[in-house]
Amino acid sequence: MPRIKTGITIQSINEMRAFSAEARRQNASLGLVPTMGALHDGHLSLTQRSVSENDLTIVSIFVNPIQFDNTDDLASYPETLASDTDMAFYKGADIIFAPAAEEMYPDGFSTYVDMTGIAEKLCGGSRLSHFRGVLTVVNKLFGICNPTRAYFGEKDIQQLAIVKKMVSDLCMNLEIIGCPTIREEDGLAMSSRNKNLSREERDAAKSIYHALTEAKTLCGHGENSPDKLAECMEAVLNREPLIRIDYALLADPLNFETPKSAKKGDLLMIAVFIGHTRLIDNMRL
Ligand code: PAJ
Repeated sequence: MPRIKTGITIQSINEMRAFSAEARRQNASLGLVPTMGALHDGHLSLTQRSVSENDLTIVSIFVNPIQFDNTDDLASYPETLASDTDMAFYKGADIIFAPAAEEMYPDGFSTYVDMTGIAEKLCGGSRLSHFRGVLTVVNKLFGICNPTRAYFGEKDIQQLAIVKKMVSDLCMNLEIIGCPTIREEDGLAMSSRNKNLSREERDAAKSIYHALTEAKTLCGHGENSPDKLAECMEAVLNREPLIRIDYALLADPLNFETPKSAKKGDLLMIAVFIGHTRLIDNMRL
């Protein structure tokens, strides 16, 4: 293990680069866990995985303004830096990288990462500049932190796929590790946005998991029609008046298009609005 100062929060890009350069010079492997904060057990499972696989782990906490296409969503995004920092260090993180928005996007910033194909489907179609913002910030974080490995959750399965594709397309020298979805006891996928739900909305949100499991069971009983599986999910979700469906469908994980017939490995995918909160989840067949 290199003798470099850990257990600190870094806000400046130059300082973060200096840390990473020194760690890599000492042949330490570096794990990066990019987050927007409001940490929960999903984020912490990524952190623990990184801690177990690398000499040093950086958790970045940055609410990335350019991936929000809705100013209300950005304004209501929970910010809890002090407790996030405590939790991440407790799980073994070595450095918290928490830059200010002006540090990441100074006046005159004008370079973005755009992806066609899978980034234009589903969440890319309903949230126009969302993946452009994600890929741009992730690219910057990779450039600043120079990680050996970076950890992303399968909860955001399309995000995981486009990050892997960017790394491959742009010949970036790091490994992307996908980690399983961590759920609440009733099945709801953990998400920072769950904090914004009222009690009634939180109760309604259980239907997302129920819809996924019912469709998966239906498929297990031999139903291979993507339309029928989608109808099954819609029927469960539509029982909840507080839920408005953005999409509920079956997708091929390679191109995020609906396959002709369901097969093992395909993804049941759901995005809904509950009040002003947008939640997504998925389940593999
Ligand atoms: P955020 O929503 O904070 O999520 C950070 C990471 O935690 C992502 O890789 C996400 O997939 C993972 N994650 C979230 N909930 C999870 C759960 N219940 N189980 C397992 N992993 C979970 O995703 C983002 O931030 C941003 O788009 C980011 C990649 C940081 C770029 O700004």
